[in-house]
Amino acid sequence: MSLSVSIIYLKENEKKEDRIIYTKKIMEILRVENLTKKYGKGESEVIAVDNVSFSVEKGEFLAIVGSSGSGKSTLLHLLGGVDRPTSGKVYVDGKDIYSLSDDNLAIFRRRQVGIIYQFYNLIPILNVEENITLPCDLDGNKVDEKRLNELLKSLGLENRRKHLPNELSGGQQQRVSIGRALINNPAIILADEPTGNLDSKASEEIVELLKLTNKKYKQTIIMITHNLEIANEADRVLTIEDGKIVKEK
Ligand SMILES: Nc1ncnc2c1ncn2[C@@H]1O[C@H](COP(=O)(O)OP(=O)(O)OP(=O)(O)O)[C@@H](O)[C@H]1O
Ligand SMILES: [Mg+2]
Repeated sequence: MSLSVSIIYLKENEKKEDRIIYTKKIMEILRVENLTKKYGKGESEVIAVDNVSFSVEKGEFLAIVGSSGSGKSTLLHLLGGVDRPTSGKVYVDGKDIYSLSDDNLAIFRRRQVGIIYQFYNLIPILNVEENITLPCDLDGNKVDEKRLNELLKSLGLENRRKHLPNELSGGQQQRVSIGRALINNPAIILADEPTGNLDSKASEEIVELLKLTNKKYKQTIIMITHNLEIANEADRVLTIEDGKIVKEK
């Protein structure tokens, strides 16, 4: 694709500024341009995400913080193709995701985005293995047994393969949902308060696991959290207020 063309062009071109721009493009996994999401009309209109622009590099671990109602979950859903914006663009790996039809957007979500929620969202009648491999089954793909076994091992769930969600602790259930998010080797992992329902020990374990994935697989992670200590573990922190980025560090 066009990236390899850019690399060849780079080698032939001596201009330093061009080199920087092309290198940035190659590293970029996500770009958000003037993204806005409004709910309701007239007096009840809420601007949940207000003209937000930023980009994320491949392998970056980004945290998003902000008070309740500031627009964090709405923004995260827009990044993952879960909801369509009122205006603005989201590019994932160079692709303008909202130019896709609803059907193709659903396929994109299944293959390129892994989502982790506060309350796990596991299917109660499916066991650990079946919950993790659900995205492959929905896609009609064969399960990569090697990846599944490797994931079960690093998630510490090897001897819980056949357990149902209600036979697991909260931390274990969240580990299953991390496995489900990772099984298809997605371009981005989006986590909405993944430790919000866990005690401090289980929270630490989940954050360590996300950091390990980030390092081992160069997995790009964008995580919402209310816990500033956890946010500080990330490479970069965006603070959202009233739908706008008010701070970046
Ligand atoms: N489906 C919806 N319809 C109308 N308004 C909505 C809808 N979803 C969210 N909102 C509004 O958009 C704003 C942002 O909501 P959002 O859920 O993104 O906040 P948040 O930062 O994730 O909050 P929290 O920390 O409590 O999860 C809120 O004012 C909320 O009331
Ligand atoms: Mg939220």
